[in-house]
Amino acid sequence: TVLIIDFGSQVTQLIARRVREAGVYCEIVPFQSAEEGFHRLRPKAIILSGSPASTLEIGSPRAPQIVFDCGLPVLGICYGQQTMCEQLGGKVEAGHHREFGRAFLEIDKECTLFEDVWPVGSRHQVWMSHGDRVTAIPEGFEVVATSSNAPFAFIANEKRRFYAVQFHPEVVHTPDGAKLLSNFVHKVAGLKGDWTMAAYRDQAVEAIRAQVGDKRVICGLSGGVDSSVAALLIHEAIGDQLTCILVDHGLMRKNEAADVVAMFKEHYDIKLVHVDAADLFINALEGESDPEKKRKTIGKLFIDVFEEEARKLGGAEFLAQGTLYPDVIESVSFTGGPSVTIKSHHNVGGLPARMNMKLVEPLRELFKDEVRVLGKELGLPESFIGRHPFPGPGLAIRCPGGITRDKLEILREADAVYLDEIRKAGLYDAIWQAFAVLLPVQTVGVMGDGRTYEFVCALRAVTSVDGMTADFYHYDMEFLGRAATRIINEVRGINRVVYDVTSKPPGTIEWE
Ligand code: XMP
Repeated sequence: TVLIIDFGSQVTQLIARRVREAGVYCEIVPFQSAEEGFHRLRPKAIILSGSPASTLEIGSPRAPQIVFDCGLPVLGICYGQQTMCEQLGGKVEAGHHREFGRAFLEIDKECTLFEDVWPVGSRHQVWMSHGDRVTAIPEGFEVVATSSNAPFAFIANEKRRFYAVQFHPEVVHTPDGAKLLSNFVHKVAGLKGDWTMAAYRDQAVEAIRAQVGDKRVICGLSGGVDSSVAALLIHEAIGDQLTCILVDHGLMRKNEAADVVAMFKEHYDIKLVHVDAADLFINALEGESDPEKKRKTIGKLFIDVFEEEARKLGGAEFLAQGTLYPDVIESVSFTGGPSVTIKSHHNVGGLPARMNMKLVEPLRELFKDEVRVLGKELGLPESFIGRHPFPGPGLAIRCPGGITRDKLEILREADAVYLDEIRKAGLYDAIWQAFAVLLPVQTVGVMGDGRTYEFVCALRAVTSVDGMTADFYHYDMEFLGRAATRIINEVRGINRVVYDVTSKPPGTIEWE
C-alpha cells in the first residue's frame, strides 16, 4: 500500500489514480488523520499532496513526524515539497511571481525517479501551480533538476529515499509524470505492480460486507453507469439485502425511466422499485432559478423519497449511491477536509444533514473511466457501459432561469432530437457527453410567413477522460446545421440553436 496524505489539492485523486495505473494499491488520508492512517495501513511508501494553503501561514498543515522517521520512501509534491523542506530544516519563502502552467525542467543529475525516463542534460515539460517556493533545502538533499523560476524544482535525498518536486507529476500536462510516479512505487519502494480492477472488485465487495453486515440497503438507480455499477457491486456483496429504487423525478430524458427499468428487469435479478415522483419534484422546483437551490432541493427530495420507500420495506439502514471522485472533490469544502466547493453535486453536498440513513458509496475513489472498466469486470452490457453521463439533478440544471413544466418538456424533446442526430451520425461513442440546454432567452424568428418569438436552445458536447477537464467537441458545421434544423422544425418553442464552445476549465460541463 501507498499512503497519500491529502493537504487539499484539487488533484490529489489524480496521484491515487496514477499509482493505481502503476498496479499498486493506495489510499488517500486527509492530513488531520494521517498518523492514524499510517498505523492502520502500514504503507510501504508515502506521498504528500499539494494544497491551496501556504506553509508560511500560521497553523497550516504539516505531515506527522513519523512520516520522516519511519525509514520509508517519501515523495512530496508542491505543498508536499514545501512542508517536507520546512519540517526537515530547509526554508520556504513567498515567490516573487506565482508560477502557473507549463514550465521546463533541466535535468542536472541522475535520480532513481528519472531512471529510463529523463537522461541528464535533457529538458522536459512539467506543470507548475504554486505561489511559494523552497529557497533552502534540508541537509542531505541535492538538487537534481531545475526550472527557470524554481531553482529547487526537483530535490532528492537518495540515501533516505526522500524526493520532493515543485511541479505536479500527477496531471497530464506533465507528460512523463506517470512514469516518475511509477518509478517511485516500483524502483524506489520496490512494490510489485500486480493490483488490478479485479482486485478492486474483491476489496470493494469485502468492504461493503464489512460496512453493511446483515442490514438492508437501498440504492438509488438512475440507469447511468455509476449507479448501475454500484448496484451490481453491492448486489454481489449482499444479494437480496439490496433493493434498488429508481426515482423518476420528472427531470429524466425522454423515455429514460421506462428504458432503464426494462433493461434491468431483462438482465438482472435485483429487486427494483420504480417510483413516479415527478409532481413532488416539479412542484418544489417550479420557478426556482438559483443553481445551488435547485441542487439542494433535489437532494433533499431524493432523500425524502428514499426514506419513504425504506419505510415501506420495513426500514433500511443504508443508502447506496454511485458517487464518483470528481463529485466528491468538487463538493467538499476546506473545513470538511480539503478543497474549495465548485458545486453541490446532488449525491454528495446536496444531501441534507438530517438524513437518517448511512451512506454506502463504493465508487467514491474512482474516476468515470475506471468505473467503466469495473463495469466490464462485472459484466454490465456494453450499451450501458458506453452511456454518456447524466447528472442526478437531471434536466433541472440544463434549464437555467426559472423551471417550468413547459420548459422541461421543450428541453426533453430538443435533447432527444439532438441525441438521435448524434447516434445517426455515428458520433455517440466519440463524444464523452452531449446534451441540450434551454436558455431563458427568447428571440425573434420567421417561420413560413409568420413571426416567431421563442426560446434559444444551446447544444453542448465534450470530450474528456475523467470529467475533471474537458474540451468542447469539434463537430463539422454540416452536422450542427442538420441538428439545428431538426430541432427548430420538430420542437415547438425553440426558434434558434447555438453551440457551446467552452472547455473545462474555465467552464464546467453542465451549465449549472
Ligand atoms: P461539471 O458540470 O461539474 O460536471 O463539469 C462533471 C460531470 O459530473 C456530472 N454532474 C453530476 N453528476 N450529480 C451527478 O451524479 C450531480 O449533481 C452532477 N453535477 C454534474 C456532469 O454531468 C458531468 O458529467
